[in-house]
Amino acid sequence: MKGIILAGGSGSRLHPVTRALSKQLMPIYDKPMIYYPLAVQMLAGIREILVISTPHDLPLFKRLLGSGVDFGVQLDYAEQAHPNGLAEAFIIGREFVGADSVCLVLGDNVFHGHGLAKLLQKEVDHLNGATLFGYQVKDPQRYGVAVFDSAGALSAVEEKPAQPKSSLAITGLYMYDNEVVDVAARMQPSARGELEITEVNNHYIRRNKAKLIDLGRGMAWLDTGTHDSLMEAAQFVQVLENRTGVQIACLEEIAWRMGYIDDVQLLASADKLGKSTYGEYVKALALAAAKETT
Ligand code: TTP
Repeated sequence: MKGIILAGGSGSRLHPVTRALSKQLMPIYDKPMIYYPLAVQMLAGIREILVISTPHDLPLFKRLLGSGVDFGVQLDYAEQAHPNGLAEAFIIGREFVGADSVCLVLGDNVFHGHGLAKLLQKEVDHLNGATLFGYQVKDPQRYGVAVFDSAGALSAVEEKPAQPKSSLAITGLYMYDNEVVDVAARMQPSARGELEITEVNNHYIRRNKAKLIDLGRGMAWLDTGTHDSLMEAAQFVQVLENRTGVQIACLEEIAWRMGYIDDVQLLASADKLGKSTYGEYVKALALAAAKETT
């Protein structure tokens, strides 16, 4: 399975903060926002990942993440000239996806919780059509919302409904088989001028080829599109990291634990990161690993 991180958009709800710089380069506490969706792809076992952003911001993502070698993954980059909607990712990424299946993560989504990696890896291995991930929220009208039939089966997704039929929002993490590139290619822009991911999802649902996984209350799903939600996400990460001493979305750690990089590479990364708390964390891991092997 290939991965796509969609990190363009206009970020208009965060103006003036995002007037000069992409939302996904903003920090969530101690690391740039894009680290969080990249961590999700890596935890799912996906190692070929396309980062899509605006022509203006793409060089900055390249400067930040490079080829991916530090994280044991292969990163490619592509421009989205205008924020034409989430489903455009599969048009821009068509060649990159090739004949493979694909996992799309939105660049401003944060997922965290026990068992997430295993859950994702299982879905990668057993994908049949589309897998969507739902999360109960207080304000479903802001999202694509799951609709269920009388038997409790997923019957549709409604985009930002005024009267939501459930409180289960469809999160910004989606897995599709290869058909998605053709589905996206045939799509027309919606009334708001976007190629809607909800339309892609409804295509799969109509064919009985969509599975919805409720992430449940043990998992955290945060989006970071407004000043308050960005601050709350940062506080969430700060509280958990300070309490446990364990980092959320430390890419070098994930790469090392997943076996994408070895002890020597981990130590080299730690040396490059320098004196930040993030760097010191990676350094401590690397030193502990070195000690274990001697
Ligand atoms: P949104 O939050 O819907 O849009 P936005 O980021 O442009 O922000 P705002 O509403 O404040 O103007 O986008 C969700 C994510 O998807 C976000 O990470 C940006 C990304 N995105 C794209 O990369 N391309 C697009 O065409 C759209 C619509 C979003």
